[in-house]
Amino acid sequence: MQTVSIHDKTFVPYLTEAEILGKIKELARQLDKDYKGKRPLFIAILNGSFMFSSDLFKELTIEAEICFIKLASYKGTKSTGHVITAIGLDTDITGRDVVILEDIIDTGKTINEFLPQLNNQHPATLKIAVLLHKPDASVFPVKIDYCCFSIPNKFVLGYGLDYDGLGRNLRELYQLKD
Ligand code: IMP
Ligand code: MG
Repeated sequence: MQTVSIHDKTFVPYLTEAEILGKIKELARQLDKDYKGKRPLFIAILNGSFMFSSDLFKELTIEAEICFIKLASYKGTKSTGHVITAIGLDTDITGRDVVILEDIIDTGKTINEFLPQLNNQHPATLKIAVLLHKPDASVFPVKIDYCCFSIPNKFVLGYGLDYDGLGRNLRELYQLKD
């Protein structure tokens, strides 16, 4: 693998496709076990998680459903502050075993604000599965139930994750060059 230049930045190879897919297979075996007979609903958060969700979902052998949502954040009124809304959540999650699929948890802000909205709809269980977690970047508390890779607090690119819109198509993960 070679370095990749996007806009003004250079990225170096970090995780190979084989390493990523290997971990995703392990995660799928774990989810197969934990959700056997439960028909879980996976909620994948776009855009970043599209490759991760697709590869993970293909590996599952249990009965499972998936839906894709986008989180839009906008400035609310003074009393509501910053508001996050889910676009495309058209499935009733009441009483369901829900698993959120995210590409990366960085500060935890997005998930931390979004989870209460899902909990308000009273799912039977609500868990979070992520491809990447940057523990050192954590600002908001998030309980991560399944994680493929804990990584240092450095910007990463590829496998669905972008830098200013580009790089999502890369099959491997790259890390910002020092
Ligand atoms: P958080 O709300 O700070 O946890 O940020 C979550 C979102 O920021 C992710 O879903 C990504 O879209 C984006 N993000 C955070 N870190 C990175 C990175 O290293 N590369 C690409 N996107 C990132
Ligand atoms: Mg994301």
